[in-house]
Amino acid sequence: MRLTILGGGGFRVPLVYGALLGDHAEGRVTHVTLHDVDARRLTAVARVLAEQAAGVPDAPEVTATTDLDEALRGADFVFSAIRVGGLEGRAADERVALAQGVLGQETVGAGGIAYGLRTVPVAVDIARRVARLAPDAWVINFTNPAGLVTEAMSRHLGDRAIGICDSPVGLGRRIARTLGADPDKAWIDYVGLNHLGWVRGLHIAGRDELPRLLAEPDLLGSFEEGKLFGADWLRSLGMIPNEYLHYYYFNREAVSAYQHARKTRGAFLRDQQARFYEEMERADAPPLETWNRTLAEREATYMAHNREAAGVGGRDACDLESGGYEKVALALMRAIARNERTTLILNVRNRTTLSALDEDAVIEVPCFVDANGAHPFSVAPLPDHATGLVCGVKAVEREVMAAAESGSRATAVKAFALHPLVDSVSVARRLLDGYLNEHPGLAYLNRK
Ligand code: G6P
Ligand code: MN
Repeated sequence: MRLTILGGGGFRVPLVYGALLGDHAEGRVTHVTLHDVDARRLTAVARVLAEQAAGVPDAPEVTATTDLDEALRGADFVFSAIRVGGLEGRAADERVALAQGVLGQETVGAGGIAYGLRTVPVAVDIARRVARLAPDAWVINFTNPAGLVTEAMSRHLGDRAIGICDSPVGLGRRIARTLGADPDKAWIDYVGLNHLGWVRGLHIAGRDELPRLLAEPDLLGSFEEGKLFGADWLRSLGMIPNEYLHYYYFNREAVSAYQHARKTRGAFLRDQQARFYEEMERADAPPLETWNRTLAEREATYMAHNREAAGVGGRDACDLESGGYEKVALALMRAIARNERTTLILNVRNRTTLSALDEDAVIEVPCFVDANGAHPFSVAPLPDHATGLVCGVKAVEREVMAAAESGSRATAVKAFALHPLVDSVSVARRLLDGYLNEHPGLAYLNRK
């Protein structure tokens, strides 16, 4: 079986390859094609993979190319993990928004819109090429903002484009552990959009154990989301939000923490990752050790500014271990390729799951997965305040897709202006001007 990874020179590729190395069953991935626009990054990552593969007799063969069409031909699965504009672009997304006093984050608020405006045209081009060159391939989208990008791709690939994120499963795992339960035996009642969802229940042996958690402040304050949001707010909500909701519920604090930070997350990663790729150019740099060290630092500092804003300390040791994206991706691929039926929280088309959204809106929800793809489970409706946020943000995503298609600046302004975290139409206009200044990739927005 052939897997193509777009963004194959990306830092997280060794996580995926590591997961593949643990799969020895019939029908496993035997060939990995890495595609990237940057040959230097491909070389660096290929060195890490080579060291990972050493001594593993059935290690998938790896090839690398900068030719997209060549990478896609013959693929059974395509992982799309691209970053249009690179980490410099991510840092600019944050900078421009913060200068206007609003949130600049990779996936949430103005920053997410800017990143979406840059990424959607590229993702759509990829989807069209897959449809033409590898019509039987399944596309698993890792690229943020993952819900929006998956929906844009699904317009060309239908249900063969599936988006993934590790934050819902991570949240479910933390809640289960806090309750002293085995995460693998828990049913997580979770729904929303990517980075905008809520756990409303966690069922073990047919019983919802979430009320027990909500009733005990000590337990509630003991895990990542409990510390971030505080026991009182979680009890008021009666649900546990995805950590990215911190940007909504504590927006002022998050904006201020970002504004006062020595470096925003994007700027930190831009510099940290640049150092990694530079180090990898030295022939004497030990690839796996260098990569592991960089990964550990990246994981330890994840959402550090939010934790700072909430007045909580470092991450728990059990949250630092990886086992997110790559495990979800591998389980999804196995379920489809080998009919190894399973349940995963994925980004798929809504169909009739959330009645406030239309059938084609991509949402994040537990799905039953088999050789026919991902089928969303029906879930209880969200409370009105959550439905309001979901509908508001989905409307923004739709404006982003419309702007990407038409090249209309007015539509792009509308996307910014309608976002719940952008508080004025004039701010929206200044945001677009700021982003057009920074990003050559937005030059297509040249129509009225
Ligand atoms: C979580 C999110 C991802 C994000 C990742 C890394 O897993 O769900 O969407 O890509 O963290 O975040 P970072 O800030 O390290 O790039
Ligand atoms: Mn994510």
